[in-house]
Amino acid sequence: MKWITSLFAAFFLAFAAQASAKTCELEITGNDQIQYDKSKLTVAADCDKVKLTLEHVGKLPVKQMGHNWVLAKTSDWKSIAQTGQGAGLENDYLPKDDERVIVHTDMIGGGQSTSITFDLSGLEKGGDYTFFCSFPGHWALMNGKFVIES
Ligand code: CO
Repeated sequence: MKWITSLFAAFFLAFAAQASAKTCELEITGNDQIQYDKSKLTVAADCDKVKLTLEHVGKLPVKQMGHNWVLAKTSDWKSIAQTGQGAGLENDYLPKDDERVIVHTDMIGGGQSTSITFDLSGLEKGGDYTFFCSFPGHWALMNGKFVIES
């Protein structure tokens, strides 16, 4: 019987951890004019996870006007964007296996949306982070600050 009790305890603890983790939701859109609708995204200090939803409100296809949402340290993002331009759509225009990319969504076209949920535990409260679109040429126009309140 003891293993059954342990099993129940394990389930309960897993459930309790899940229940207490706070997921904060963020939304951003991209359009056919190579613009996000926000230049800053802020999450409160008590958020454990973030669910980020990107909606492409334009009409152009992904090959012509692809948008994604990539998160990196502000000190890294330009270099990632420049290196990624040659990586091709199959790699979402991101350098392969680049650990400087903290998280990124899929690359989408007009009328599509995508979301991603990620843990904030590896990120620094009050740290300097930037989000951007890695589609070639978009990063200069499509970027903003990601702020975790401290
Ligand atoms: Co884009």
